Amino acid sequence: MNTVKTVRELRAAVARARSEGKRIGLVPTMGNLHSGHAALVTKAAQRVDFVVASIFVNPLQFGAGEDLDKYPRTLAADQEKLLQAGCHLLFAPNVEEVYPDGMSGQTRVSVPQLSEGLCGASRPGHFEGVATVVCKLFNMVQPDLAVFGQKDFQQLAVIRALVQDLNMPIQIIGEPTVRAADGLALSSRNGYLDEQQRAIAPALYRSLSLIAQAIDQGERDYPKLLAEQRQLLETAGLRPDYLEIRQATNLRQATADDRDLVILAAAYLGTTRLIDNLHLNLDATA
Ligand code: PAJ
Repeated sequence: MNTVKTVRELRAAVARARSEGKRIGLVPTMGNLHSGHAALVTKAAQRVDFVVASIFVNPLQFGAGEDLDKYPRTLAADQEKLLQAGCHLLFAPNVEEVYPDGMSGQTRVSVPQLSEGLCGASRPGHFEGVATVVCKLFNMVQPDLAVFGQKDFQQLAVIRALVQDLNMPIQIIGEPTVRAADGLALSSRNGYLDEQQRAIAPALYRSLSLIAQAIDQGERDYPKLLAEQRQLLETAGLRPDYLEIRQATNLRQATADDRDLVILAAAYLGTTRLIDNLHLNLDATA
């Protein structure tokens, strides 16, 4: 597996693969890779002949006071994991390569509606930063397909919308969330948790599961369900940012008649913000 740092080298390597008739897949990441990321690479490797992963901690998607500066950078370990997972090329540019003229005059891509609410409410500008960098990566690599995690459910919805709205010929694949044995969704940010917080963190997925179970058993009083679980989260020591039940296809508020649901949550543990979600399709056969 080669690592390149410039768009020029990236394009040359991808062009070579294309000239050999290979199909190209892209897995965008911010590094500090865990088995959730590796699963995306493995998936891409099953579907295409040439897998490109990117590692770029994108300043455009971080708000003031967020963890841009302390976000873990672990390139050597990441390279090893990517290699093991079947990646062919790593693109690891620096900020100047991606934003040579700075960020203030950078053309932005914004996906209205889907970017509002949930994480968009507490992280203004976040999804514009994500959509912009993903659009740039798509244009740099021009992949046939790209793989993202369902862990970031709203992000995946935003990316699906941008590809459709801007007529990009890229297939988007959403992969299931990889979890620790106790249910906690793997995340680079879990590394910020101390031992005590790490023991509390699985409460987030537990609450999502309890809500899903209740809905599955016929409960439709969503406000009551959500209030109960919000209370449980607080008792466990988490500070809920949001806990909501939405329609899975468009993230609009769910009604009692909706069958394809997603339960989404964000909560703080100390200064660390954790997110998770659970997709619940009442019509799916088990
Ligand atoms: P990052 O947080 O590094 O995540 C990269 C990809 O890995 C995303 O598609 C994310 O949904 C997926 N992922 C993270 N944890 C996962 C888990 N436990 N199971 C399965 N997939 C998981 O998301 C970003 O980076 C950035 O916003 C990015 C899209 C790269 C744009 O900068």
